[in-house]
Amino acid sequence: MNVLFVASEAFPFCKTGGLADVAGSLPIALAEGGDNVSVILPLYGQISQEWRDKMNYRNYIYVDVAWRHQYCGLFSMEYRGVTWYFVDNEYYFRRGGLYGDYDDGERFAFFSKAVVNLLPSLNCMPDVIHCNDWQTALVPVYLKDVATRWDAVRNIKTVFTIHNVEYQGRYGAETLYDLFGLHEGWWNDGTLAMDGDINLMKAAMLVSDAVTTVSPTYAMQLHDSAYAHGLESIVSAVSYKLHGVLNGIDMTSYDPAVDKALPAVYTPEEMEGKAKCKADLQVSLGLREDPEVPLMAIVSRLVGHKGVDLVCEGFDRIMDMGVQLVVLGKGDEYYEDFFRSQAYRYGGRVAAQVTYSEALSRRIYSGADLFLMPSKSEPCGLSQMIAMRYGAVPIVRKTGGLADSVKSCQVGQEDGTGLLFNDYKVEDMLGVIHQAVQLYHGDRAGFNIVRQRGMTSDFSWKRSAADYHNIYQNL
Ligand code: GLC
Repeated sequence: MNVLFVASEAFPFCKTGGLADVAGSLPIALAEGGDNVSVILPLYGQISQEWRDKMNYRNYIYVDVAWRHQYCGLFSMEYRGVTWYFVDNEYYFRRGGLYGDYDDGERFAFFSKAVVNLLPSLNCMPDVIHCNDWQTALVPVYLKDVATRWDAVRNIKTVFTIHNVEYQGRYGAETLYDLFGLHEGWWNDGTLAMDGDINLMKAAMLVSDAVTTVSPTYAMQLHDSAYAHGLESIVSAVSYKLHGVLNGIDMTSYDPAVDKALPAVYTPEEMEGKAKCKADLQVSLGLREDPEVPLMAIVSRLVGHKGVDLVCEGFDRIMDMGVQLVVLGKGDEYYEDFFRSQAYRYGGRVAAQVTYSEALSRRIYSGADLFLMPSKSEPCGLSQMIAMRYGAVPIVRKTGGLADSVKSCQVGQEDGTGLLFNDYKVEDMLGVIHQAVQLYHGDRAGFNIVRQRGMTSDFSWKRSAADYHNIYQNL
């Protein structure tokens, strides 16, 4: 089957979060399963020269969105069994960051329209176009719009994946024509209209042939107004075509046995290298070098729904348990400042790296004993899986994909890989951190078994890629 995967970021080309990991690894897994897969991305200024040198220029077209008439170049390259296409327009994509500009709506309307108009320029016509999050939500809409007068695309099926329902792409009603170039029928029939605004995610959910989200538990939670950010009625309306498929991680790239970012490598059987990674992390981040202190890590965007407020609230009590803490991530200024000031207060015990760094994140996973992820909501979450793969025992809240990927190791559970708490309350989080620290100090052999189970768990895409393949096939 010919599958075209459309995303606004993909690792290793450009990344701000988990979406990039998925877009950079699911297509490869699908290709390994026998599908003919390509991915199409914006050619951001951030994509390095090293990758650009490997790309071939193919052709250019002009893309019209409303009254705008824009150049659109197409580059491509082959990498790990997948064809990667890059859409070139420097005005839109040569910016300081990937997102966050005043004209993001216009930029991704251009990208979505470009994807549709470039279809004849690709190696083959896709059978399925798989879109991801609000940035690509207009692809199924534009496709349907042109399909009425374009036979070649009429039979293409579309899949839309919700990675996070919090970001929906909402714009004022007046943008319908001016920004998106769509006829008022798209508003009048209720496809785009939601609570008086244009809502791109809603439109994609209604128009696509299948809707997926990134874990079975999150798929259930999306029916609940506490999680759905206003889209619960739409979720119910599309439940007949909604699937929850748990993400995997790229087990080849995330492998402590060969990871070049680490100061020492290790395997579940031969763990000496992990001790070296811990010592190296402590020294390089200015923590007291001590093999016996439990080193806990947080690698996360520093925003509310990741549970950072619980960490702040319980901070001193966490530190009273005698742990060291490393925080890596950027986000709300308040949280960034909070962790910086704690690093100052707890010199030698807390390190705050307010940045985003792929290489440093790998060194942190490898050096850590414990990994804290107390998310308020978590569609899937990948870092808990990466942490387990690198032998850091996860402490997570039982929600979304965290509930689907971490098994409780509380007394009596034979297959536990981490610790979970239910209610979003600081006391409950502190309770399980305390249990983890006690296990670490009081029963190191038991702790190591839990750690080992995580390291040998299968978080590969194999099963989930087959689920996606079946979803495509059934369309
Ligand atoms: C979003 C979600 C995260 C998920 C990722 C990849 O970033 O917040 O939970 O793992 O997308 O699907």
